[in-house]
Amino acid sequence: MSKPGTEPGVRVNLDPYDHRFHWDPYPYYRAAREHDPVYYYEPGGFWLLTKWEDVNRAFRDHRVFINSGAVALEKDANEKLPYPLFIGSDPPEHTRQRAVLAPLMMPGALAPLEEFVRHRTRELLAPHLTRGRVDFVADLACYVPMDAISMLIDVPPAHRDRVRGWADDLIAREDRQTDLAERNVAGYMNLAEYFETHTARRAQEPHRPDMVGAMLAAERAGAMTHAEVVGNLILMAIAGNETTTKLIGNMAYRLWEHPEQRRLLVEDPGLIPKAIEETLRFDGSSQILVRRVAEDLELRGKHLKKGDRVGLCVISANRDADKFENPEVFDIRRGSRDHMAFGYGVHACLGASLARLEARVVLEEILQMMPDYQIETQGLRRAHNPNVRGFTHIPAHFGKVAP
Ligand code: HEM
Repeated sequence: MSKPGTEPGVRVNLDPYDHRFHWDPYPYYRAAREHDPVYYYEPGGFWLLTKWEDVNRAFRDHRVFINSGAVALEKDANEKLPYPLFIGSDPPEHTRQRAVLAPLMMPGALAPLEEFVRHRTRELLAPHLTRGRVDFVADLACYVPMDAISMLIDVPPAHRDRVRGWADDLIAREDRQTDLAERNVAGYMNLAEYFETHTARRAQEPHRPDMVGAMLAAERAGAMTHAEVVGNLILMAIAGNETTTKLIGNMAYRLWEHPEQRRLLVEDPGLIPKAIEETLRFDGSSQILVRRVAEDLELRGKHLKKGDRVGLCVISANRDADKFENPEVFDIRRGSRDHMAFGYGVHACLGASLARLEARVVLEEILQMMPDYQIETQGLRRAHNPNVRGFTHIPAHFGKVAP
């Protein structure tokens, strides 16, 4: 890809399916915000909104920017992914389903998970301490989120690698692959088959008070269909997993790039929540959310037609200079919560409290056990997906800890 935004007569070039784009999409997004903020992505046949104001309006205006039929960017997603995920619905169907899950995702309901997350983090880091080497994603961050969500949806430890593997299959994209591939659909269908069996097993114990129990009770009461129960378990396994894994990795990476800010956190761990918010703003792990437009409309001189698919580029909006001062500067002291890394409005992330809890506990443990870690850049590897943004490998070394 040609370097964007630097030459006169700028040619804006956004390609969320180009693997090279994923390494540093920010200059491309900046050029789009400045020169073509409502961008038509020809190969995928959808629009990309890059300004904070436009993305925020789309999140708020859920009657015009709808989620039905917009579960993924790929145009064939609806027909190939048959189970309904409630993220891909609109009020009142969406409100009905969200109401079943929301009470179980509140900070108070999640508090008992903190001890589990800390214990699991320590357990995962322990074998690496005496060697002085660890891969922050492959040895740690890829496990914690799936383990935590498994506690909510009752996936036993022996099944978790498989479930995570299918979620990985669903989101993996080959270079410039703009339609779903067999591997993606197979990942989804394997998850569906697994959760069909899972719900059948759990129907034998109808009164267990967890998320599966709540959804099965809603099914019995006629407030959720069986396909919705299975679809929403698939959604929890996908949404609760990769995004949080990648957030933890992005945080470890940015704090390695900024050792003076890492030192601040070591000296004052009370600043960690602010560092999490700044990572979410500066390098969030959810890149593009999907909508369809319910009616023809004009936006910054572009004509969007009823039914068009629109990508809301939150990682671009979160660096918009019209919203944030010095947006290209990573500063954990910023304390801004105006980012939209967890979306906004009726579909705002249901797992935000859980993601923040996991990121905080994992970072507390990393900074306590290996505050001097150094990342080995030649070993960095990225995940490739138009939505999920982050690393699959972040190898690092640090001062060995005596056994
Ligand atoms: C850093 C981690 C995470 C990020 C960046 C993230 C991001 C997002 C975003 C941007 C949305 C809005 C989607 C839209 O407007 O179309 C969303 C929705 C959602 N997220 Fe998350 N998420 C994260 C972690 C989690 C976790 C841990 C869970 C569950 C355990 C979760 C479950 C959900 C669900 C169920 C929705 C759909 C909500 C709805 O449609 O009402 N997320 N997430």
